[in-house]
Amino acid sequence: MTVLGARPQFIKAATVSRVIRDAASVDVSEVIVHTGQHYDEAMSRIFFEELDIPSPHYNLGISGLSHGAMTGRMLEAVETVVQREKPDWVLVYGDTNSTLAGALAAAKLRVPVAHVEAGLRSFNMRMPEEINRIVADRLSTILFCPTDVAVANLAREGLTAGVQNVGDVMYDAVLYCGAKARNTSRILRDLRLTESGFALATCHRQENTEDPARMVGIVGALATIADELPVVFPVHPRTRKRLSELGLDAGLSRLRMVEPVSYLEMIALEQGARVVITDSGGVQKEAFFFGVPCITLREETEWVETVNSGWNRLSGAAPVQILAAYEVQKEFGRHAGRPNFFGDGRAAERILSALRRNRAE
Ligand code: UD1
Ligand code: UDP
Repeated sequence: MTVLGARPQFIKAATVSRVIRDAASVDVSEVIVHTGQHYDEAMSRIFFEELDIPSPHYNLGISGLSHGAMTGRMLEAVETVVQREKPDWVLVYGDTNSTLAGALAAAKLRVPVAHVEAGLRSFNMRMPEEINRIVADRLSTILFCPTDVAVANLAREGLTAGVQNVGDVMYDAVLYCGAKARNTSRILRDLRLTESGFALATCHRQENTEDPARMVGIVGALATIADELPVVFPVHPRTRKRLSELGLDAGLSRLRMVEPVSYLEMIALEQGARVVITDSGGVQKEAFFFGVPCITLREETEWVETVNSGWNRLSGAAPVQILAAYEVQKEFGRHAGRPNFFGDGRAAERILSALRRNRAE
């Protein structure tokens, strides 16, 4: 049983769902439980359609609310589904409230949990994601790490049993979809953008959107960059609301603000961008996969390999720092090395093999 609910989880789970279906075997099937955490058409359904993910067997319809209320209601509802379906495994992805609820519901029922994207750490406990991922890792029987750094993080916490580096399912996803996106997406044309002639920005982290000074700093810096390079900004619904509450949206006509785009459109934009500016975990990594320099609007990142190799710079949210990082990254040499930190594009196959192998135990 796969428990998911947020945009990046649809993209990650699509890779594993595909290998489960390709296995075309009677000994494995998947029940998909959508918590409802992300519910807008552009945040949910579009990914199921574009990535050919089977429609969820259950949609729990739980979204919004405070962290505790959202997670609590999900916990109760997932528990009921686990009791009914009696899965061999509950599979959870990443670090959202849906991840936490899925892992906790299963562990309490003594159904083994497998965590995809285990072992990531920001070492910043103020992030809701850090709490979610630490608890999910602690509750999991198999911990599928995307990198060696993730394996080492778990070892420092005394977690070694069931830990394996399978590679990153998001790398699987770009290998599967990257060329198709580039060849078929019309988004660069539709937005009248030229190759390497624009910056791509996203922002949705709670620590940025819920802090007015940070939000003002980020959009101010993006507006300054837009004086020299078009800035395309697909706006997450959380951010759209905050910009409007803070009265900032009216002054942002210099930015090309668009609704959230589909995965194929997003990775077409990433491949065409001169530079990516983001606080997203997934987008930082995709910039690296495509060899596009990145600026991360945070003080730390879980994906330290991207920073250590020079492809990513941490800027925080102060305009002076963002603009300084932009000056460096826009000139960053695209010939720079990109070591293979994230596996070989076969993470999903390894995940399915491990689930099969361990079922009878
Ligand atoms: C969640 C995850 C975050 C992940 C992000 C991916 C948690 C704690 N956070 O953050 O780790 O990086 O998803 O995008 O799980 N909203 C809509 N429509 C939607 C979805 C959200 O309007 O389809 C609005 C709602 O007002 C909601 C707010 O966005 O209250 C925040 O949504 P929520 O799912 O709580 O957190 P995200 O910021 O999306
Ligand atoms: N993404 C997308 N459309 C968008 C913005 C992001 O398809 O408008 C994709 C992006 O390519 C990546 C994933 O969503 O695969 C990242 O999700 P998000 O930034 O919401 O969450 P995070 O990775 O920070 O948890």
